[in-house]
Amino acid sequence: MKRASRAVHAGRDIAARSPLAPDLSQSSVHVYTDLDDYDAVARGERPGHYYGRNSNSNRDMLERAVADLERGEMGLATASGMAALHATMLALAPKPTTIVATRELYGGTMALLRQDFEPAGYEVNFLDLSDLDAVRRSLEGAGLILAETITNPLCAVPDLEAIAAMAKEHGVPFLVDNTFASPILCRPLEFGATAVMHSATKYIGGHSDLVAGVTVGSAAVIGAARIRSVRTGTPLGPFDAWLALRGLRTLDVRMRRHSDNSLALARAMQQLPAMARVFHPLLEDSPSFPVASRLLPEGAGGMMAFELKGGRDAVQRMLSRFRLASFAASLGGVETTISYPEITSHRSLTPEERAELGVTAGTVRVSVGIEDPDDIIEDFTQALAT
Ligand SMILES: Cc1ncc(COP(=O)(O)O)c(C=O)c1O
Repeated sequence: MKRASRAVHAGRDIAARSPLAPDLSQSSVHVYTDLDDYDAVARGERPGHYYGRNSNSNRDMLERAVADLERGEMGLATASGMAALHATMLALAPKPTTIVATRELYGGTMALLRQDFEPAGYEVNFLDLSDLDAVRRSLEGAGLILAETITNPLCAVPDLEAIAAMAKEHGVPFLVDNTFASPILCRPLEFGATAVMHSATKYIGGHSDLVAGVTVGSAAVIGAARIRSVRTGTPLGPFDAWLALRGLRTLDVRMRRHSDNSLALARAMQQLPAMARVFHPLLEDSPSFPVASRLLPEGAGGMMAFELKGGRDAVQRMLSRFRLASFAASLGGVETTISYPEITSHRSLTPEERAELGVTAGTVRVSVGIEDPDDIIEDFTQALAT
């Protein structure tokens, strides 16, 4: 089956008399009448569920569906994207080692590395992953490399294929945060990544109504992540798993519309005098364009950014004038939202650190929704008119 069809059907075996939409199994525990039967289920030798922290049918369906779309052996669904990252990083690098990470890392991931991993003895080497020579040098003796398919907020696309090849050469596990692209537009495991994770809060859920994470990889890696998630109590609850699977069913159509809309908005924004710069990986003048057109041939999703000449005052003025877009510190929903990195994703950085990444007082990140593109362009154009 092609990907769009798998997005609609993956994760379930429908038999005669099955409910077409999955039942919600909210129970925390299952009843047994035979001790040997319980023992076999608990050992994983027989299918079934016994305790909600260990497994649940709605979580199972979501895990199988995302694993299918990412072309991985096994999935693990967690209470948030951060829980997925935590369990997967510990599965791949259980003992203190050097973690190489993109310097444009999502702020929450950066905080996890700096405030939890570094004090536990890990060293973190933040790098510009577009500098492949620096990446090669950094892999010597490293224990894990962590990248994001599309960076936040300036939408750069590192060469995952080249990095995966180098990581393999050095025997270093390679974890990719594929949140911004979704498995519809990019499948890092096919490029040679060891594991891939998502904040399913974003595009997989797609409707701004849940917090969840999913990670996918080999049975050995995901099995190791799963036991950590079970031990630390971070598996995803049944209703959020049910909602995330419901969101996943429309992921293919949504990602295509998000991709078309974001490129249309980026091109329209380039025409406005209020703009200092516009960032979208598939704009021909983007430094990421050659890599992005190779790795994301079907579109780059709904994320784009721009820098307003007038700084924070100009951002506030635009925000007060919006009729359709709103300001919200998340992304990937059906509705168009903006984020202001200076006080959201990048607030824990110093102004100097932000400047080094190209994030200024005028930087706005847009999560372009699936509304009619004319309405989105019209809203930004009127909000930015002089
Ligand atoms: C790229 C990326 N990775 C991970 C996360 C963390 O996900 P969650 O908020 O679901 O824990 C986020 C959240 O914004 C994100 O944008």
